[in-house]
Amino acid sequence: MIVITGASGFVGGHLVSHLVSAGSDIACLARSETASRSLLAKGCRVVPGDVIRPETLRGILHQDDVVIHLVGIIEEKGSATFQAVHVQGTRDLVAESKRAGVRHFFYQSALGADRGSWSGYLRTKAEAEEIVRQSGIPSTIFRPSLIIGPWDGFTRKLADMIKLSPVLPLPGEGKAKFQPVYIKDWLRCIQKVIDNPASFTGTYDIGGPEHLTYREIVEHLSRAMGFKKPVFSIPMGFMKLSASILERILPSPPVTSDQLRLLEQDNIAARDAIERYFGFTPKGFDDMLREFIR
Ligand SMILES: NC(=O)c1ccc[n+]([C@@H]2O[C@H](COP(=O)([O-])OP(=O)(O)OC[C@H]3O[C@@H](n4cnc5c(N)ncnc54)[C@H](OP(=O)(O)O)[C@@H]3O)[C@@H](O)[C@H]2O)c1
Repeated sequence: MIVITGASGFVGGHLVSHLVSAGSDIACLARSETASRSLLAKGCRVVPGDVIRPETLRGILHQDDVVIHLVGIIEEKGSATFQAVHVQGTRDLVAESKRAGVRHFFYQSALGADRGSWSGYLRTKAEAEEIVRQSGIPSTIFRPSLIIGPWDGFTRKLADMIKLSPVLPLPGEGKAKFQPVYIKDWLRCIQKVIDNPASFTGTYDIGGPEHLTYREIVEHLSRAMGFKKPVFSIPMGFMKLSASILERILPSPPVTSDQLRLLEQDNIAARDAIERYFGFTPKGFDDMLREFIR
């Protein structure tokens, strides 16, 4: 059985649809009624559970299961901190996996994960990776750059901004580089791991064939949506100050200081990473946008 956490999210949703249509035997962890209902409607089994409530994880796994751990947060809210969700949540799920004797553990980290990072997101992803590696369970870790596709949060936020704003506001100069990868290409990679986990133990950078600056990403997306608007750079210092004030007064600020930090550093790997590890050429950014932007 394949057990998926984070199945109700963007990546998990695509994975579940893909595996259900392939006839795979899967069960998904869900922490809310809404998530349970939509997963059941897709035709998979649902296991109630929340990674920050370890008591809900007890007994959910069985010998020889393959665990696909996709849970992750991009902003902290209340008790759902990076430390609680990424580090302690992964630690508890790994402990349960060991107890059950699962066959393979897949962890979705992020490109740039680093214990010394300024970003709490990247720092805790690196800590979670270490827990998985040291568990003794055969494991695969993916470190993707931006994953792009229908319903992804990043493109959706940018697309809303492009539609509504007369100019395209850029935090800072928008010079940091990213390597967007198409969700369908990510699915091809994970399918290879599922088919043959023993051949894919280790840590894999996952990115598309291009290195694009944040500015280029905004410009390409705007073009794909049929807009031609001027770019307007907002000094990063001002953005950070505004974000830190908004974080204190709003439960869900439009952007957090941690997210701004992620826009200040390159988030790239080798352009041929997927080809080298998984043997196929992934789609370029304009081609992926052409497939799903209307
Ligand atoms: N999307 C990208 O560009 C990208 C790039 C690199 C790495 N990643 C990593 O890939 C993974 C999936 O990303 P995504 O874009 O699909 O994120 P997403 O859409 O925000 O989905 C996150 C998933 O995690 C679940 N979750 C959050 N807290 C939980 C908890 N305490 N217990 C159980 N489930 C919990 C959410 O469940 P609810 O529906 O209940 O909230 C949701 O299913 C994350 O680990 C992310 O860090 C994503």
